[in-house]
Amino acid sequence: MSNRGEWGSRTGFILAAIGSAVGLGNIWRFPYVVASNGGGAFMVVYLIAIITAGVPIMILEFTIGHKMRRSAPLSFKALNPKWEWLGWWQVFTSFAITIYYVVIIGWSLHYAMTSLMGLGWGADTSTYFFSEYLKLSDGPFSLGGLTMGAFIPLLIVWAIIYFVLVRGVSGGIEKANKILMPTLFIMVLIILFRGLSLPGALAGIDYMFKPDLSRIADPNVWVAAYGQVFFSLSVAFAIMITYSSYLPEKSDINNNAFLASFADCGFSLLAGLCVFTILGHMAFTEGKAVGDVATAGVGLAFIVFPQAINALPGLNELFGALFFLTLAFAGFTSAISINEVIIAAAIDKFNLTRKKAVTIIILIAGTVSIIFATGAGLHILDLVDHYVNEYNIVLSGLIEIVLLGWVYKLARLKDHANSVSDFKIGMWWDICLKYLTPALLIIMIVLKLKTDITNPYSGYPQIAQIVFGWSIPFVALIFGLILSKIGNKEIK
Ligand code: ALA
Repeated sequence: MSNRGEWGSRTGFILAAIGSAVGLGNIWRFPYVVASNGGGAFMVVYLIAIITAGVPIMILEFTIGHKMRRSAPLSFKALNPKWEWLGWWQVFTSFAITIYYVVIIGWSLHYAMTSLMGLGWGADTSTYFFSEYLKLSDGPFSLGGLTMGAFIPLLIVWAIIYFVLVRGVSGGIEKANKILMPTLFIMVLIILFRGLSLPGALAGIDYMFKPDLSRIADPNVWVAAYGQVFFSLSVAFAIMITYSSYLPEKSDINNNAFLASFADCGFSLLAGLCVFTILGHMAFTEGKAVGDVATAGVGLAFIVFPQAINALPGLNELFGALFFLTLAFAGFTSAISINEVIIAAAIDKFNLTRKKAVTIIILIAGTVSIIFATGAGLHILDLVDHYVNEYNIVLSGLIEIVLLGWVYKLARLKDHANSVSDFKIGMWWDICLKYLTPALLIIMIVLKLKTDITNPYSGYPQIAQIVFGWSIPFVALIFGLILSKIGNKEIK
């Protein structure tokens, strides 16, 4: 374990955990998910999801990492010699996420520059995004050559991630988070104050939070809330196990898990307010309803938001750059954690030096990520993002809590968490992890399967759904099984 690092301080760990959680998911995903799933009603369900799944799993993963002091695969192996594959599955999930996540950070950097250069996206932001910038091809199999505007920022993003990770846990990851996280918070506050001062802001807030109580009984709202919690809190992709494995022995677990989860939730609310006050203003200037200008996913950040920036009454270039840099900063701290999962696993398993592991992993992930900088990039990204989130993360989260809740004695982990924490967790934790969350996750997976089988995602052909979607959980499983069989050291 000589190559492993350790956090220099509790603040360093907490900032890194929050930095991992706060990411692209909070800024472009959360606001729209709230608005399209019943506003205030969704918020109630989302809070239930945080308390019943988010925080309990965060405590569980912090405990595993802190107790076992290993990367995810070897931590699972230490819990049970037959479970190493599950850790590798989660490592593969992180790999599948990082290869497109870094591309979106690259787009954000490009948009920040474009904003500074006289709002270079012009009036028709949709044509700019799809045709001029991404040179989007007509389907996931027509690659259509490399898009330089996406490729060059991608190289820059990888270079920064390399530069941070090669410096190790306290010298690289902790330092980067100590700079990026407070800066991010200040940037979001500036955008928020600007947003709140604009005419139409209240209509935006109203749109985001107005409770449509009839939606509380809608299973899709529950599915959306639990999905958002997993992605946003970075649980079930091995990050929190890896990060907590670098904690000193005397470290609080329960407190830190609550803090990280609610900080992420709070940041989502702030980001949501930023986005919807500014969209509210745009709707106001165009004389439209907020619901008519808001769209889902990438479109919200890269098509609708540039329009909203065009509509600001002043300092448009600066605010545009500030918004896209905020997105990039939030993305960086998450991307660092997602890559660290893979690097830590390689260091522990193959006894590599950090420099060697970082170089090899970033070369491999960097090369694969180039596919997302081609004309087909956005199509493939859309598919991979959908399937990894809906199946890999949720399924591995389910397997994790079922194995630990029903096979391994949960009480042993609870005793460990309570022995180092200020306040103790009780029955609530066992009930959530053993009964409530597994039941909800099973319902969620069944519902999603039904939708995806009857209604191919985004209308892409079946072959594309298989190659860039359905195959991912299976490849992850095979990858996990193979790696768990090779080069095994005994776990003491
Ligand atoms: N938790 C990270 C996000 O929300 C992955 O983007």
